[in-house]
Amino acid sequence: MKIFIDTANQAQIEEVDSWGILDGVTTNPTLVAKESGDFKTNIRKICEMVGGPVSVEAMSTKAPDIIKEAKELSKIHTNVVIKIPITEEGLKATSSLSKEGIKVNMTLVFSANQALLAAKAGAAYVSPFVGRLDDVGEDGMELIGQILDILENYAFETEVIVASVRHPIHVTQAAMMGAHIATIPYDVLKKMFKHPLTDIGIERFQKDWEKVAKH
Ligand code: E4P
Repeated sequence: MKIFIDTANQAQIEEVDSWGILDGVTTNPTLVAKESGDFKTNIRKICEMVGGPVSVEAMSTKAPDIIKEAKELSKIHTNVVIKIPITEEGLKATSSLSKEGIKVNMTLVFSANQALLAAKAGAAYVSPFVGRLDDVGEDGMELIGQILDILENYAFETEVIVASVRHPIHVTQAAMMGAHIATIPYDVLKKMFKHPLTDIGIERFQKDWEKVAKH
């Protein structure tokens, strides 16, 4: 499973990239709004930092405007992927952009049918938001299973990005289901390698090793 980080913060991206496990980045308007400085410059720096796809959201709502905005955003760097919310206009834009070779990450996906339409329109990625579904009493990971089945049934090339990840169990479940990608917030990534027994084990081995060193 590919691991993306869900942030626009360069320090977080740099740190996680240094672990050697990072395949890409997703941003959204909320995440971008948390960072200072020029938006396009920040995105270019992120693209140069990580040699993988970097999703950036187009904010226009009509297909011709989304297409225009997507083309502008694509000029920032070849690794930029255009995030487009799943709407009628978003589908039209996705269909047109994907035919021109511009990769789209269809976002704000909350149902299997939305994902099916996104794949039919040629989206390179589809982003179901599991945490936000859990928040309203639905089962986000169940949706991931449905979408993976549908995409596999018809051999779509669209990759599933498990998004709105809230905790390490979402990541484990995504990997067990065979999701292509999980986009994970920094704090959840940090929790993934932590285990109290690992810390206790290291401390014990260090203490015992001191005895060996004294011999
Ligand atoms: C995904 O691409 C989105 O940026 C993100 O995962 C949304 O997560 P949230 O529900 O925690 O805002």
